[in-house]
Amino acid sequence: MPTDVPYRDESLTVDERVDDLLSRMTLPEKVGQMLQLDARGDVKEIVSEKLAGSILHTSPAKMLEAIDLVAKTRLQIPLLTAEDCIHGHSFWPGATIFPTQLGMAASWDADLIERVARVTAVEVAATGIHWTFSPVLCITRDLRWGRVDETFGEDPFLIGELGSAMIRGYQGGGLDDPTAILATAKHFAGYSETQGGRDASEADISRRKLRSWFLPPFERVAREGCRVFMLGYQSMDGVPITANKWLLNDVLKEEWGFTGTLVTDWDNVGRMVWEQKVCADYAEAAAVAVKAGNDLVMVTPGFFEGAQEAVERGLLREDEIDQAVRRILRLKFELGLFENPRAPDPERQRAVIGAAEHAELNLEVARRSLVLLKNDGVLPVEPEGKFRRIAVVGPNADNVSAQLGDWAGDSGQVDWLPDGHPRELTETILDGFRAVAPPNWVIEHARGADIERLVPDPEGHTYPDGQPRPPISVGAPIDHHLIDVARDKAVRADYAVVVVGDTVNLTGEHKSTATLELQGGQIALLDAVAATKTPMIVVLVNSKPTVLPPSALNAAAIIQAFNPGMRGGRAIAELVLGHIEPSGRLPLSVARHVGQQPVYYNTIRGQHGSRYADLTQDPLFAFGEGLNYTTLTYGDLTVTTPSVPADEIVRATVTLTNSGARPALETVQAYISDLVTSVTWAGRELKAYRQVEVPAGETVTVELEVPASACSLVTADGRRIVEPGDFELLVGPSSRERDLLRAPFRIVSP
Ligand code: NOJ
Repeated sequence: MPTDVPYRDESLTVDERVDDLLSRMTLPEKVGQMLQLDARGDVKEIVSEKLAGSILHTSPAKMLEAIDLVAKTRLQIPLLTAEDCIHGHSFWPGATIFPTQLGMAASWDADLIERVARVTAVEVAATGIHWTFSPVLCITRDLRWGRVDETFGEDPFLIGELGSAMIRGYQGGGLDDPTAILATAKHFAGYSETQGGRDASEADISRRKLRSWFLPPFERVAREGCRVFMLGYQSMDGVPITANKWLLNDVLKEEWGFTGTLVTDWDNVGRMVWEQKVCADYAEAAAVAVKAGNDLVMVTPGFFEGAQEAVERGLLREDEIDQAVRRILRLKFELGLFENPRAPDPERQRAVIGAAEHAELNLEVARRSLVLLKNDGVLPVEPEGKFRRIAVVGPNADNVSAQLGDWAGDSGQVDWLPDGHPRELTETILDGFRAVAPPNWVIEHARGADIERLVPDPEGHTYPDGQPRPPISVGAPIDHHLIDVARDKAVRADYAVVVVGDTVNLTGEHKSTATLELQGGQIALLDAVAATKTPMIVVLVNSKPTVLPPSALNAAAIIQAFNPGMRGGRAIAELVLGHIEPSGRLPLSVARHVGQQPVYYNTIRGQHGSRYADLTQDPLFAFGEGLNYTTLTYGDLTVTTPSVPADEIVRATVTLTNSGARPALETVQAYISDLVTSVTWAGRELKAYRQVEVPAGETVTVELEVPASACSLVTADGRRIVEPGDFELLVGPSSRERDLLRAPFRIVSP
């Protein structure tokens, strides 16, 4: 290793070290630094020939190989290693896998999510990975989109709160903290505004609309110091994000002062050539990407030759490449990788991966992620003492993959975990009931139905870019024998817990769905169990909200669990048996019918009528909804600052009375409505919330604060301003109008 060169000298400033190193680099070495390549391929080629500065999807074995290969390169510039550790250290055997981001969002608990991210960082940092591609700050609007599970739901304020917390957790004590990992705010920006839910399609989204809803969470975390932003796949107004100078430079870097690093999404640069066809070849695409301000280019191996050719052809200047390389090197120096490349540490791995206290936190977040949507009084089931028989049936009742969800173990993104995480680390719902129910109770199980059959995609085994094309999920036929077995068990039982939902094959990139219905034999199973008259508790283990059939809607209880992670099965059993209180709240609206898409609460005022001719537009369950095991009443909403200048705080109090026999952890939600606006605007927007414990039989007073500066809108020419005038504060347990108390306040010109 060359030790006597200035860039190795720790006493110099980062800028001096970057200058020195850059001055020694050849053009291929510089372009190589900009490459982030897929380490499932030939690592020798990636590191020694393409001189890649960063790798992703690196198996534990290949990580060691890559580090050895770097040591043999001329300048020995350490690699940045990245992975999608998006709900735990997803692809490390035995790591702690938490509920998906959507599941965590249902907790509405920023501190809890910060702790989850901290634990994830501790596990990840021990394995030689420096960087996670998390969190997703996209807004869910169309439930047909395949990546709803990766989001924090539909509300920009909630997304900002939870995303900011997650980034704090990952980034820990700062870049020189050895347990910190880089966080990534993605996918910048507007990626989720798909057409018909189709993944990565052109997003029909104006700059004003971006500024109104899609940019605020990104702006917040950029200003708070999130170190990396990943760009979306899509184009807007004809411009692929990778080429969007306005978004990357004018907004992100100049307006918000972002000085971090940009990474493209997977082959965004190549896609401009072979998919979007806005560039004739890789040289043109490389020039466009560099000029727009991109730094790391994810999995476009052709960028290596393309960027060099672009310089040769005069499409790009070498000093433009230098600017990107400078940002990448700066990050590596700031992480201290030249002194300590943060290689895998087996001893530390033994101490932290899947540690008992991490599993404990996982159980806590799983408990908090469960949303009770319906309860006719059946839950919690009767107290211990009596003998009870419970039938736990359905295709997701004992299914590790459905419980962990996408981006975990064998969900398909990596090739070194064909059997997923060790089975014993996941407590399925069946496991949970067996562990938690009194020992004399009988817990019976039957699968009852299959969800899908996998068939080869008729379009071939690979996509145009050579990536494997996954098989297609088709609904499984109704299997009457499976149903009969489940029905028999339900008939004999005191309660039937029917666990239905979707699979990882119906979730994720390239896997948007045209429908939202339960697939395969699941509806027939629900109908059959409902007909037994045994009280039915429906548990939804799904990546995103599902449209429910009448048999499920008429069930005694419905629990929305999303993909609740390794401890989710125990948490669900605890909830049903009344060992914990339900406290989750929906982070997004649930549709009655796929034709309601998109359905979300903060819609713009103005429409002829308020329903479809053949269906209400009201969602089945609204953003913010979730029941307790007790009765809470909101009262006495009082704004204590009825008139405030735009730079002060609107303060209010509300009382909550628990007239039931059980305690509640309530999420008190505060929305505002700007009564007259110069442009059309949302009828109400979440601006604050508080989570409070309300003991049985007690009344508590809750104080709420909303900065008047947050009561803003975006003008027709794209400026975010507060318009002084009359507002209403709306406070209650969900976003539904009928659930909200209202009180007026005024914002006056300062
Ligand atoms: C593509 C996905 O869109 C992105 O979210 C992910 O981080 C990268 N692939 C890397 O796996």
